Amino acid sequence: MQARGVDPVRKGVAFLCLSGGECELNRYTRALVDVSETSAYRLGVALCYRIAGHVKKTAKEVRVRPGASGLPGFFFGLREQSGTAEGMMSKDWKTRTQLVHEGSRRSQYGEMAEAIFMTQGFAYDSAEQAEARFIKAGPDEFVYARYGNPTVRMFEDRMAAIEGTEDAFATASGMAAVSGALISMLKSGDHVVSSKALFGSCLYILENILTRFGVKVSFVDGTDLAQWEAACVPGTKAVFFESMSNPTLELVDIEAVSAIAHEVGATVVVDNVFATPIFSKAVAQGADVVVYSTTKHVDGQGRALGGIICGTKEFIRGVVEPYVKHTGGSMSPFTAWIMLNGMATMDLRCRAMADSAARIAAMLEGNAKLSSVIYPGLYSHPQADLAARQIGSGGTMLAFDIKGGKDAAFRFMNALEIIKISNNLGDAKSIVTHPVTTTHQRLPAAQKAALGITPGLIRFSVGLEDVEDLIADLQAGLAAV
Ligand SMILES: Cc1ncc(COP(=O)(O)O)c(C=O)c1O
Repeated sequence: MQARGVDPVRKGVAFLCLSGGECELNRYTRALVDVSETSAYRLGVALCYRIAGHVKKTAKEVRVRPGASGLPGFFFGLREQSGTAEGMMSKDWKTRTQLVHEGSRRSQYGEMAEAIFMTQGFAYDSAEQAEARFIKAGPDEFVYARYGNPTVRMFEDRMAAIEGTEDAFATASGMAAVSGALISMLKSGDHVVSSKALFGSCLYILENILTRFGVKVSFVDGTDLAQWEAACVPGTKAVFFESMSNPTLELVDIEAVSAIAHEVGATVVVDNVFATPIFSKAVAQGADVVVYSTTKHVDGQGRALGGIICGTKEFIRGVVEPYVKHTGGSMSPFTAWIMLNGMATMDLRCRAMADSAARIAAMLEGNAKLSSVIYPGLYSHPQADLAARQIGSGGTMLAFDIKGGKDAAFRFMNALEIIKISNNLGDAKSIVTHPVTTTHQRLPAAQKAALGITPGLIRFSVGLEDVEDLIADLQAGLAAV
């Protein structure tokens, strides 16, 4: 069937929704999407684009002029340097400014672009200095790249600022972040509660790795608060979930689940990949630890694997760092440099992708060749209200089920020209993935069925191409089904 013609989702204008909570985070701009004259699209959910991006800041930071740090003329922006008001700059930066500048450190050369400190280690002025650094390295003192590196530290500081956490630790991949956050805090006998709608590798860590070391894991339907309530018991150590699940885009209510978890003293670890650091502010909504695969929207150009764990200084430096630095999953300086460059455009990219995703979802919905279209920005999504409240957007991802199962799905994918068949997401290039045969292949058929991962399901990561071209490509794909 011919997909409906699509008129641009036109500029919505909007109103400020000041929900009056305890911090600026509650200040959203709610863009009402005018769904065009044809208004066939039931895209009535008010997509709330959070522009404030102003996060609760707990990191105490002071900027100092070159040379004022005590490190001869080396770094420009040092964390937690105190004792000088010289060169202090406003800490009231908005998200876009933070994405470009936060955490930057400049050498004596004054380079504009962040430098790549492509070094495994650091020379000490004396044996005494080496000894002192191994006892306790200062915030801008480095020992070995597995422990920390100036380029990596810039990326960690920038991500912590965006997330509103005190600190962050960068890892070699998203899975190093997920496993690092969990394994570093757990021991044999501990109990973890997790949603069951998870990316295949996340599920593997919970089902196969943690349990091998004597951790008890209870799985719940992440959308059902009663199940969280029943599973979290006094002594539960951690709660884990993807705030928007891969690939079926189920949302977990961060605020409600965090309240349940905190009631029993559990630490809330959120994999926030699908929700993106731009749309979601999970820590302000109650999460304790937020992890990302920065391979996705943070890089945004499909160049490098990376991950990050964001949390309190105590958790990051006291729990995570000792685990990751000794087990070896740290991020390389080159990757950190890629991620820093990705961050500069992340806000613009995510918003452009979400705009296109909303239009595409509206175009696809009701197509006779599809049995369902899943997009949190559509009225038809069962958690559309939660999406509007929690992330203020429908996001950059959608999923749809092609009637006719695997054969039909493959015919559709093979007919695409612009949209690539791959398994990354959050990339500038649009990507379709067939989860049943790729990312979730490992799961038994019954488990896939229970999670809604059907043979016809396509996951679609909307890229930065012109949306009209994407729509034409999708229509050509569906015509081939
Ligand atoms: C929700 C989620 N978490 C974690 C990961 C793992 O990230 P990486 O591939 O960077 O290890 C992915 C990858 O697709 C993911 O979708």
